[in-house]
Amino acid sequence: MTDRYAVIGHPIAHSKSPQIHKMFAEQTGQDISYEAILAPLDGFAATVERLRKEGYKGCNVTVPFKFEAYQLARKYPTHVYAAQAVNTLKLDGDTILGDNTDGTGLVHDIQFNLGITLNNKRVLLIGAGGAAYGVALPLRDAGAILKIVNRTSDKAHALASSLISNKSIISGCSFDEIANQEFDAVINATSAGLTDNELPLPPTIFAPGALAYDMMYGRETPFMRFAREHGAAVVSDGLGMLVEQAAESFFIWRGVRPETAPVIVALRAQQ
Ligand code: ATR
Repeated sequence: MTDRYAVIGHPIAHSKSPQIHKMFAEQTGQDISYEAILAPLDGFAATVERLRKEGYKGCNVTVPFKFEAYQLARKYPTHVYAAQAVNTLKLDGDTILGDNTDGTGLVHDIQFNLGITLNNKRVLLIGAGGAAYGVALPLRDAGAILKIVNRTSDKAHALASSLISNKSIISGCSFDEIANQEFDAVINATSAGLTDNELPLPPTIFAPGALAYDMMYGRETPFMRFAREHGAAVVSDGLGMLVEQAAESFFIWRGVRPETAPVIVALRAQQ
């Protein structure tokens, strides 16, 4: 019998997840279906409950429901506490298991697809909203020397404080404080690209060989343009992260790890 999965969001029509999971299913021979579901803004929990009753095995959760999904899930691994957001639900009878695969997706894309190690690298994470929370702990655990910068610097300090552990070097700061600093990787987790706003970054921010990574995908953002103009050696959008986080969800549900490279190539060809 075909196992059913879905992605829930609002809006949802733009989602590439059905296409990605279809390719994963074909590639691995898994008998699943995967659809996009538009939930009303006040109807996320009711939508999950309906899917559970209808026997769906799991769903992905996207904007703006990741925080509600965190509240709804009754069990999750420890890294999900740091993110305070859930993008993957596994429906198992009465139990709803929550996970967040965004951070693993980002780290896998950088390390495996782009071939750049993060261990002991100076990494600047820009932003302290939901997207930044989702990826900060996995970046720390990949060994990055992590600095978090945000327009509202209090939020950067709060995120950094929530992640400090004995082994790790993490700090939060304002844009003024990075004026004379350079980094081996600069990751944009703000929503500034949506509005074509420029981030107030110093032109000397990129160390020789540096990576500039924008978690958005679909077009060249002002941050990516800035990075090309100011010496970043590798500039990437977040398409690889999108596919990697999907692969991680697929693994959580099916116990099978799909090949991501051919899926990334197929999606790039459509851009
Ligand atoms: P998301 O879930 O996409 O992270 P969010 O929680 O609203 O959305 O967070 C948006 C992030 O983008 C925040 O870090 C925000 O900075 P503030 O906390 O100071 O608001 C950042 N951001 C949005 N527009 C920005 C801009 N024009 N310049 C700098 N930072 C911006």
